[in-house]
Amino acid sequence: MRCFDDGVEVLLQKRRKEVKTMKTLYEVMDGSGEDEEKLKRAGEILKAGGLVAFPTETVYGLGGDALNPESSRKIYAAKGRPSDNPLIVHICRFSDLDRIAWDPDGRAELIARAFWPGPLTMILKKKDVVPQETTGGLSTVAVRFPSHPVARRMIDAAGGFVAAPSANTSGRPSPTSARYVAEDMDGKIDMILDGGDVGIGLESTIVDLTEEEPMILRPGYVTQEMLEKVLGQVSVDRTILDAASTQRPKAPGMKYRHYAPKGELAVVEGEPGRVVACINDLCRRAQEEGKKTGVIATDETVSLYHADSIKSVGSREDEEAIAHSLYRILREFDDEGTEVMYSEAFSSHGMGQAIMNRLLKAAGHHVIEV
Ligand code: TXA
Ligand code: MG
Repeated sequence: MRCFDDGVEVLLQKRRKEVKTMKTLYEVMDGSGEDEEKLKRAGEILKAGGLVAFPTETVYGLGGDALNPESSRKIYAAKGRPSDNPLIVHICRFSDLDRIAWDPDGRAELIARAFWPGPLTMILKKKDVVPQETTGGLSTVAVRFPSHPVARRMIDAAGGFVAAPSANTSGRPSPTSARYVAEDMDGKIDMILDGGDVGIGLESTIVDLTEEEPMILRPGYVTQEMLEKVLGQVSVDRTILDAASTQRPKAPGMKYRHYAPKGELAVVEGEPGRVVACINDLCRRAQEEGKKTGVIATDETVSLYHADSIKSVGSREDEEAIAHSLYRILREFDDEGTEVMYSEAFSSHGMGQAIMNRLLKAAGHHVIEV
């Protein structure tokens, strides 16, 4: 299975000719006997200080050796990411947590047993072996044990500790398929492992365990309710859904305007019939100004809109489907050159909290209430 269509191949070849860049190896993980060889090669590249993009169950990651400061520097350069924004260290064995972080009260072990391998990242006090370059100068480290089989095998082949942010250029939506990784990273990294579309589509939940009360710094598939069943009371960083908050987010990455589409995006919130009427009216006005318009709708409403491009993010009933499609849709609007976009709003409970958090960030917290 090849996830690339020919058009993209041609585009990439052209781009390689235009700019003198490094050659990025592109390998499809297809379950055949050759996968082992490809993973071995990826492991060698990582051990030698190179960068390999790989699939995880949340989004694609851009991996480098987490214990090698030079690899972390390269990750920041390839992404165009500020170096005060720390990286998540990915592991592939429970016992490796203890090698890089402190768990003074056993809480890390408790939630590792409940949610690992899986889409949960913990913030803990770091041990000396983790370089400051990987943690953006912080004395804490973010650790995650992903469940995706390609990720686990690649981390193992690399020696067990892979620093990986999402494999997008800083400021673009995180990639949910290898073709989007290639769009952003071709010519900048050594290798891309194509494991097909990811399952979840939004980045992992981040929970800070360095304070007395655990705090969610970034909502994701593992919800506050799920964490509270294991840990007791868990709070949520107030800056996550609140545009008015002047507080500094605790996860340095959350202060940047992430996930930004190239066009302007606003979220329209209110009674469903009024939302449809308002979005149609705003699109008509934007079209009169000669702008290309787009709507992020749901299966229930997609037939009610009039705009240049109307996309359903899935059924309103199915939050997992919405999470899965959101970043892909934002990238599609970019590719189509959509200039003005409107999205319906979603509930901010459970998994909806993660969806609204990413959507509001993409919209720069521009919300229209009707
Ligand atoms: O699902 C995911 O977590 C993906 C996949 C590839 O594993 N990775 C990911 O990494 O989303 P990234 O770098 O795009 O986002 C990491 C977030 C950033 O907001 C960063 O500021 C925060 O984690 N972070 C990392 N280390 C931290 C620390 N020590 N304290 C607080 N926040 C931290
Ligand atoms: Mg990211």
